Amino acid sequence: VKVTYVHHDGTRTEVDGKEGDTVMHTAVAHDVDGIVGECGGAMMCATCHCYVDDEWLDAAGERRDGEEDMLDCGAAEVKPNSRLSCQIRLSPALDGLVVHMPEEQM
Ligand code: FES
Repeated sequence: VKVTYVHHDGTRTEVDGKEGDTVMHTAVAHDVDGIVGECGGAMMCATCHCYVDDEWLDAAGERRDGEEDMLDCGAAEVKPNSRLSCQIRLSPALDGLVVHMPEEQM
């Protein structure tokens, strides 16, 4: 499942993620700068904040319970397409997913 991470300066990193892994875990496993994932995916840190590319919003699904509150605690501005990347799990439907990363996570 391909995921493209777009850095704040516009550079793109494309990685091959595993189905079932989260977008956060995939970034960390591939040393993608810009996603920290401090809490390991427990929805406790908001350092995995990402902006889902408009074309992928439907496929990525809705925010989960509590996700919004946690996003508000993060360092980056919350936008309508903000998600915690630890709450998006890769599936074939997300092959080609593009997420944008905020300037800073903490
Ligand atoms: Fe901590 Fe996503 S990794 S909230």
